[in-house]
Amino acid sequence: TLTACGSGSGSGSGSGTITLGFSQVGAESGWRTANTKSIQEAAKAAGIDLKFSDAQQKQENQIAAIRSFIKQRVDVIAFSPVVVTGWDAVLKEAKAAGIPVVLTDRAVDSDPSLYVTFLGSDFVEEGRKAGQWLVDQYKDTREPVNIVQLEGTVGAAPAIDRKKGFEEVIKANPNMKVIASQSGDFTRAKGKEVMQALLKAHKDIDVLYAHNDDMGLGAIQAIEEAGLKPGQDIKIITVDAVRDGMQALADGRINFIVECNPLLGDQLMDIVKKVHAGEKVDRRIVTVETVFDQAKAREVLPTRKY
Ligand code: AHR
Repeated sequence: TLTACGSGSGSGSGSGTITLGFSQVGAESGWRTANTKSIQEAAKAAGIDLKFSDAQQKQENQIAAIRSFIKQRVDVIAFSPVVVTGWDAVLKEAKAAGIPVVLTDRAVDSDPSLYVTFLGSDFVEEGRKAGQWLVDQYKDTREPVNIVQLEGTVGAAPAIDRKKGFEEVIKANPNMKVIASQSGDFTRAKGKEVMQALLKAHKDIDVLYAHNDDMGLGAIQAIEEAGLKPGQDIKIITVDAVRDGMQALADGRINFIVECNPLLGDQLMDIVKKVHAGEKVDRRIVTVETVFDQAKAREVLPTRKY
């Protein structure tokens, strides 16, 4: 645990209200939309003055937003870093200004003394869960299993870690081979485009592992347009479990989804209040998550919030 450096020093609104500057990655996926909504609603409910900035998946925009928050002397800065590297300078500036920084959703490779805590999923574990499902599915097969992987944004923690966890688990099975792996930038449009190219280049794809539902859903369009049946001719594993993904899972077009929970808003606001009050918070807060097969998706879909 660690206490905030320089809590309560920001100008806020001057009325005792906590001001939070939040720099969001963008609006690239259904997950991100749900995450933004959760943060905005939770801030409102907690009476926190939220200054929200959308970086459109560009690191330079996030750095500019954080610098602007420092200039405005907000009480706390939180952000979901688009990529892992390149944050040292701006995080040092926040520290020098006495403004505590909270990481949400994605990690950075900076010195941990530059931020108070990191709230978010264990992406390596998510990748392992995806790999484990595949290994279990094909446990009686000695035949080659050809896998294509749609990676998330290049250099982003979830792309690096989901690949790592997945490959770690399948590597004990010599018949399982990732025959192609390319970034689809976590978007539906890119997922479709990349899958179209992969289908042209490889006639023998057995499995698609997409690092999020949106890329998987884009790829499904490409698979259907190629005259193949997603979920049958090509088995599909994705990550997130947002509504559209869960619907495709329930319909049999996806085979397995590893959950990544976007509803971080309430937890974030609790952290912000504690940090502002100078209370201790855990250095790492890991989100609790599950997995879904087709039967479970059909069961939970009617009450799914996002
Ligand atoms: O960082 C979380 C990831 O970012 C989600 O899995 C993906 O959908 C989003 O774009």
